[in-house]
Amino acid sequence: MNKTAIIYSFNTKKTEKIAERIKEAFNDEMVEMINAEEITEEAFLSFDQMILGVPTWFDGELPNYWDEFLPAIEDMDLKGKKIALFGLGDQVGYPENFLDGVGFMAEILEAKGATLLGFTSTEGFTYESSQAQRGDQFAGLAIDFENQGSKSKERVDAWVEQLQKEFS
Ligand SMILES: Cc1cc2nc3c(=O)[nH]c(=O)nc-3n(C[C@H](O)[C@H](O)[C@H](O)COP(=O)(O)O)c2cc1C
Repeated sequence: MNKTAIIYSFNTKKTEKIAERIKEAFNDEMVEMINAEEITEEAFLSFDQMILGVPTWFDGELPNYWDEFLPAIEDMDLKGKKIALFGLGDQVGYPENFLDGVGFMAEILEAKGATLLGFTSTEGFTYESSQAQRGDQFAGLAIDFENQGSKSKERVDAWVEQLQKEFS
């Protein structure tokens, strides 16, 4: 596999757990962990394959560290970049904005020419609306620690298997 970055905030607890599980499932030393809170344009563009950790915060918004990096992304040409998103959200606490951050991030990355991979079925989730939903899929992996924590490992493992095919 080509060098792949998992980019997420090193200051998050739940997102970090999932990022580490993803790295473990890849079982590949070509996977590099990068702190989203310190990411530079140069570092971001140095990877052709990326996995971004995007929890949803503030009733349907991106966390600050991604919000602050968006102007830089707006100036990028991401043609040829393969990017997969994993999102954390709470379908019971925030049913009207479940996983919205993944939807916003997906839209921005696609507008800059990136190819998005790793879409997953909405089956097994109950919510009212989600910006991340495209037909019967999410634009990435959905993890709900609060309500379906016990399913996280199997969801991550199945996703990594899918990504190993889609990245190659
Ligand atoms: C203040 C607050 C607002 C949140 N807003 C949303 C939301 O709008 N949509 C959603 O799906 N989850 C929402 N969540 C749930 C978080 O996405 C979830 O707890 C996630 O696991 C946080 O991951 P992190 O701690 O690694 O950042 C919110 C949580 C908090 C505490």
